[in-house]
Amino acid sequence: MIVTSIQNPDLDDDSLVENVELELLLQAVYLKYGYDFREYSRAHIKRRVLHYIANKRLPNISSLQHELLIEKKCFDELLQELSINVTEMFRGPGFYKSIREKVAGLLKTYPYIKIWHAGCSTGEEVYSMAILLKEEGLYDRTQIYATDFNPRVVKSAREATFPLKYIKEYTSNYQKSGGQESFSDYYRATNSSVIFDRSLTKNMVFAEHNLVTDRVFAEVNMIISRNVLIYFNRHLQNKVLSLFDESLSTGGFLGLGNKETISFSDIAPKYKIIDAREKIYKKSHE
Ligand SMILES: C[S@@+](CC[C@H](N)C(=O)[O-])C[C@H]1O[C@@H](n2cnc3c(N)ncnc32)[C@H](O)[C@@H]1O
Repeated sequence: MIVTSIQNPDLDDDSLVENVELELLLQAVYLKYGYDFREYSRAHIKRRVLHYIANKRLPNISSLQHELLIEKKCFDELLQELSINVTEMFRGPGFYKSIREKVAGLLKTYPYIKIWHAGCSTGEEVYSMAILLKEEGLYDRTQIYATDFNPRVVKSAREATFPLKYIKEYTSNYQKSGGQESFSDYYRATNSSVIFDRSLTKNMVFAEHNLVTDRVFAEVNMIISRNVLIYFNRHLQNKVLSLFDESLSTGGFLGLGNKETISFSDIAPKYKIIDAREKIYKKSHE
């Protein structure tokens, strides 16, 4: 099948060749390593691949393809380049404020809560949620699953250790999110890092999971997946939203954050809006 973006008649010959090479590279990555980037936003993938080959001083995308087919280490590096892991604690504090004000009260009626953070990166978002749940008296009856397709960030997330240099910003985010306690009570500082309290990690399970190629992870009452769908094209977003829908029990919550939406998707009719800005939804029926 020839992809329409490759056929674009406005493209000059070099760009056309580059697009063909990129298509073949993504196919090769999928066939050799099982990671499927073929439906990620093409502009994003192209930017990152060109950045990578410039850094490695490779002449073109085809030479990268050859290199990564024979050298697993090369693929591991490319994966770091393609998975944007930027995150922070209480990122977008308004989101957590809304969870506190509009969702926590409803969760209190549940005897047991399961939450899935899909695309959790190095875990800052997961520890933020654990703090919020603790303050709302919910943590002890919650199981948090946190997944990402990048093994390196999953390993780092498990360690509960973050650079000290960001802690001022995280403390400010925490306060803006409605946090009333002393943030420093949740961690122990060393020279260059902070280590979060064991009482926060006890109900967390970290695992590798690929939203594009893996199936339902678990049946849960809340899914948080912010700043992940933005890297996918519309067709893939729709597919992943259906996976979320399959994983969510009726009455459960889906939190996507202010950059994403379900409005275009197949699942939209089943969901009520809880917060239109922070894109928090409640699944109203099967
Ligand atoms: C920008 S980070 C967002 C982290 C966090 N959710 C936040 O909002 O701060 C995006 C994460 O999505 C992960 N990701 C990208 N594609 C994925 C996929 N197919 N399956 C699982 N995780 C994926 C990346 O590895 C990265 O850690």
